[in-house]
Amino acid sequence: MKVILIGATGVLGKIILPALKNHRHEVVTVSRKGNTDYNVDISDSGQIKKLFNDVGSFDTLINAAGHCWIGPFEEMTEENIYFGIKNKMMGQVNLVMIGKDYISKGGSFTLTSGFISDDPIKGASNYAMVNGAIDNFVFAVSIELKNEIRINAVSPGWVVENYDGNMDGPVKGQYPVSHERIAHAYYKSAFGYLSGQVYRVWEESTQYIRK
Ligand SMILES: NC(=O)c1ccc[n+]([C@@H]2O[C@H](COP(=O)([O-])OP(=O)(O)OC[C@H]3O[C@@H](n4cnc5c(N)ncnc54)[C@H](OP(=O)(O)O)[C@@H]3O)[C@@H](O)[C@H]2O)c1
Repeated sequence: MKVILIGATGVLGKIILPALKNHRHEVVTVSRKGNTDYNVDISDSGQIKKLFNDVGSFDTLINAAGHCWIGPFEEMTEENIYFGIKNKMMGQVNLVMIGKDYISKGGSFTLTSGFISDDPIKGASNYAMVNGAIDNFVFAVSIELKNEIRINAVSPGWVVENYDGNMDGPVKGQYPVSHERIAHAYYKSAFGYLSGQVYRVWEESTQYIRK
């Protein structure tokens, strides 16, 4: 399968990439400024269009990129909120809106949301609203995509490259999710059968699960 992996140089991307390569997929890697096949900023729809024109048709898109504003609610401005909307939210929505014209029949989109919309941490309300939007977007749009195209989101718990045992960071005692679980969830989302799902890859021992 020809897979576009956006955010290939990040914490999540570096977990997903070897899983794809180990299963002999052809991977087109993307980031804004890393050593990847293409340098594209997903907050710019013009750059997304150029990416798809350059890559041509593909089977699977996995996005593990997108930032939001971080800071205390007391200091948050309207502009700060638009940052996450333009970047992590519209960036991912545009990947699907534009990419649907290039993806093969039966292909799949996998977007990334995250635990913060269900188990918030201080300073991250912009992430919480955008993650929730992504979860709802994949649920709703899954019933409208044509040509047997699937779409899911992966909502990772806290993931770190190397865990140092520090419990006193912003996530306050949350235990990190294993890299293996992350790789399996993205793989299942991308190559499994279901559509419209949110795969919550959370560490049950310390992750609050909102009812
Ligand atoms: N790590 C976690 O604990 C965790 C948990 C839940 C959800 N998430 C979500 O997962 C996503 C990735 O997280 P991460 O921890 O892997 O982040 P990261 O380590 O900062 O990596 C982000 C990756 O995306 C690329 N990128 C960032 N903004 C981009 C843009 N606008 N256009 C194109 N590429 C862009 C980065 O490369 P360049 O900087 O070169 O562009 C890098 O490859 C984020 O949306 C994050 O909210 C992460």
